[in-house]
Amino acid sequence: MPLVCMRQLLDEAAKGGYGVGAFNVNNMEQIQAIMEAGRETNSPVIVQASRGARSYAQDRYLYHLMIAATELYPEIPTVLHLDHGNSPETCRSAIEMGFTSVMMDGSLMPDGKTPSSFEYNVEATRQVVAMAHARGVTVEGEIGCLGGIEDGHGAGLSGLAHLTDPEQAAEFVKLTGVDALAIAIGTSHGAYKFKEKPTGATLKMDRLIEIHHRLPSTHLVMHGSSSVPKELQDVINAYGGKLKPTWGVPIEEIQLGIRNGVRKINVDTDNRLAITGAIRKVFVESPEKFDPRDYLKPAREAMKKVVVERMISFGQAGHAGDYEPVPLSVMAQRYAQ
Ligand code: G3H
Ligand code: 13P
Ligand code: ZN
Repeated sequence: MPLVCMRQLLDEAAKGGYGVGAFNVNNMEQIQAIMEAGRETNSPVIVQASRGARSYAQDRYLYHLMIAATELYPEIPTVLHLDHGNSPETCRSAIEMGFTSVMMDGSLMPDGKTPSSFEYNVEATRQVVAMAHARGVTVEGEIGCLGGIEDGHGAGLSGLAHLTDPEQAAEFVKLTGVDALAIAIGTSHGAYKFKEKPTGATLKMDRLIEIHHRLPSTHLVMHGSSSVPKELQDVINAYGGKLKPTWGVPIEEIQLGIRNGVRKINVDTDNRLAITGAIRKVFVESPEKFDPRDYLKPAREAMKKVVVERMISFGQAGHAGDYEPVPLSVMAQRYAQ
């Protein structure tokens, strides 16, 4: 089956009361890890690429690797999503390349770090919704800003600096017509989210629940949702790495989110940790090896294991065959109505 739009995956997830992980990729091995995890757990799949990924791998490589994935895994509904598009132009180029879903992150200015005004965000997002929906492509918007800046996405402040205001979120959805809404509830991108296990003071699940009550039929998106498990940190540090102690978003909090309207959960850092730990282990234990396959295979396996675990705990496992994918042309007609 061809790449499918994200809207349908999230609508189905809402009906089934589960969430769908969205995993970042930059290369073939990461795509393979996700697709294998999707097959093993019979899950619908969202693969996402950031601007950094697009420039690292080049759009054409990414796109054709994803087409290969749809040919090799025809039973898995698979979405190719742009993560944190910084401008309508970035979203346009992704749509033209064949992405079936885009995020217009107008919570920040196009520099990816300066918080924007509500008016700017609405205007930029509306433009993208018009352009994307005309082609049946899904749009995710963001209101409120995530913390952290280590990967270039975030206001560079604490995750609590720009929490989403529920009233503003409702206004934003009404004015833009987005299909999914990313919200800020205290998380940040990267490994260093919390200095201890998060509590209600640092991870604002009450805010998420309030937003869900205000917008019961909007698909909510949790960014910065890696759990940063200690086991993955330990492997890296056991083999010469230097990670400082840190905490991520506990799986039980994500599951609470899923019971309250969260349909898409973004995970990148956990996979980066798994890959790096596996590679470090080979380098330390077998320093005589120099065939990249000797360390890329265990790296791919380690990432697949993380993705399988997330697919099971988010509840998407078992749901790949629940529905017939709707072609983008039909989605475009539905939006037009
Ligand atoms: O949004 C953050 C993702 O982890 C992507 O990170 O911009 O380094 O590719 P990146
Ligand atoms: P993590 O850094 O927590 O994996 O978040 C990824 C993300 O939100 C991508 O948009
Ligand atoms: Zn993000």
